Amino acid sequence: MCGIVGYVGKRNSLPIILDGLKRMEYRGYDSAGVSIINSENKIINFKKAGKVDEMSKSIDKDIFSGNIGIGHTRWATHGIPNDCNAHPHFDMDDNIVIVHNGIIENYKQIKSKLADEGYTFKTETDTEVLANLINYYFKQTGEFEKAVRLALTDVNGTYGIACLCASEPDKMIIARNGSPLLIGIGNDETIVSSDASAVINHTRNVVYLEEGDMAIIKENGFKMKTIYDERIFREAKEIDFLIESIEKGGYDHFMLKEICEQPDSIQNTYRGRINFDTGITKLGGLESVFDKMLNAKRFIITACGTAWHAGLVGEYMLEQYCKVPVEVEYASEFRYRRPIINPDDVVILISQSGETADTLAALREAKKYGATTIGVVNVIGSTIAREVDAGTYVHAGPEIGVASTKAFTSQVMSLALITLMLAAEKKTISKDSLKEIATELKSLPGKIQNMIDIRNEYKKVAELFKDSRNFLYLGRGINFPVALEGALKLKEISYIHAEGYPAAEMKHGPIALIDENMPVVFIAPKDRIYEKVISNIEEVRARSGKIIVIATDDDKDIGSYADHILRVPRSSALFAPILNVIPLQFLSYYMAVARGCNVDQPRNLAKSVTVE
Ligand code: F6R
Repeated sequence: MCGIVGYVGKRNSLPIILDGLKRMEYRGYDSAGVSIINSENKIINFKKAGKVDEMSKSIDKDIFSGNIGIGHTRWATHGIPNDCNAHPHFDMDDNIVIVHNGIIENYKQIKSKLADEGYTFKTETDTEVLANLINYYFKQTGEFEKAVRLALTDVNGTYGIACLCASEPDKMIIARNGSPLLIGIGNDETIVSSDASAVINHTRNVVYLEEGDMAIIKENGFKMKTIYDERIFREAKEIDFLIESIEKGGYDHFMLKEICEQPDSIQNTYRGRINFDTGITKLGGLESVFDKMLNAKRFIITACGTAWHAGLVGEYMLEQYCKVPVEVEYASEFRYRRPIINPDDVVILISQSGETADTLAALREAKKYGATTIGVVNVIGSTIAREVDAGTYVHAGPEIGVASTKAFTSQVMSLALITLMLAAEKKTISKDSLKEIATELKSLPGKIQNMIDIRNEYKKVAELFKDSRNFLYLGRGINFPVALEGALKLKEISYIHAEGYPAAEMKHGPIALIDENMPVVFIAPKDRIYEKVISNIEEVRARSGKIIVIATDDDKDIGSYADHILRVPRSSALFAPILNVIPLQFLSYYMAVARGCNVDQPRNLAKSVTVE
């Protein structure tokens, strides 16, 4: 959410900043801006509402030149997205300029104290208040570094910041609390970013800032301190993905690329973790807490959005195969609900980004009560991955499309692996079933590929419904969360109102919505509750709803119930959600394209929600 990039070195910083902003645009795209210290040691600033390309086209590249600079792409929290509220923000004297991710919660109090001191403000943002607070301390101490430090000890909330000072033009200062930042170490240059994708073009060598870290960056390198002025040293790590994985590679959209990557991303999730002869699964990252998991009285799964849907699938899996009670909680509610958490609970946090503020807060809450915490995270080295007691990476690879696709299927796969590992040890699954599941797992990437190969079939149906105003998605059992996920995908990228419901719940209310204009997507694989779902389909048919069914290849009867059939390969219940969600991903993608929506940058959304 929002992207920061900064450069200190010998090259002209502008092209590096603009390239970095473009690569981070999936994190926020309602306005963008840059500030550069020019050869006369003046800060020049340009910012504009709209996409990075618009800002980039309008900027005067002859004037914007200098070896130190910062840039930002914004997802608005305080103040509407316009030129004025875009970052970077100056202090009142145009001496200090700052880009900021996160929220300064006590900005109103600070603003009013500064106003009493005669400070004036041009924008509605919390960031401008922080710039002026730094100014306030700079006037008292005459030192930029000290001023930043003192200002940061006054603020509550979250921040990742990069700032410059015209009075000390040889340096950039960055700091982190709750919003990720990293330092890319190049040859005679340093590139700072909130996201490795903005740095990887220049270096793979990075240092991740931890909470409360600051860095003072100059042309000859950087030094790190805490905001309380203690010297610290953080080891450099290597970025674990290739640049190709964050480029579109010939696809029209990242979302389409990521949907089509799922045969590989799924394999990457289970590769080396399961013995295909025995079905025995081993997740190295969970070994240290495995006994706690075996003895847990209860699992709590908490996450947001799509990851929460994966958690609901996990609930079915763990309860059914491991015979252990599971609760699934919205991370955003978890903390404020004052949940009852016991030390013998195991709390699983699911997050693609590993930075979602609500999920991170839930993690910290769970730790407070002494529960064992486990991360199911995609981004390596992310905050949640670092703070949990143990974890398993889903290894889906970078996900750039704002609508999550391959991360979801890899999250579900990770939960399936956790389930198999526990069930085998608890002996709540037979050896034969384990072997069968392992054999089936081997065929899963091929089955996903088959669906990708027939995606035109899904596209044809999507195009028929592009003008619909509403959609219902219905599923039962382990496929109910798939219905929720299908509805969320449609809402996010095509702005069609959609609701996911347990199929049998429909008659308790939503059935009133059904008429000849209401398309209803049923997830109806041939499983043990197939007949029940067919009854629910009949209920919709009787009211003239348009019926689209996700049906297994071997279902010869479904034609008499459905207006449109989206075929999926048959599989065991454990893997059915992974297969059944794929036509729904395509359905939403093609509907959004047919409606002319910006699939990779849906309105109001941003990847990785790092504010509460
Ligand atoms: C939906 C989507 C969001 C995220 C949610 C959690 O397509 O992407 O609902 O799933 O914001 O994000 P992570 O998984 O990064 O914690």
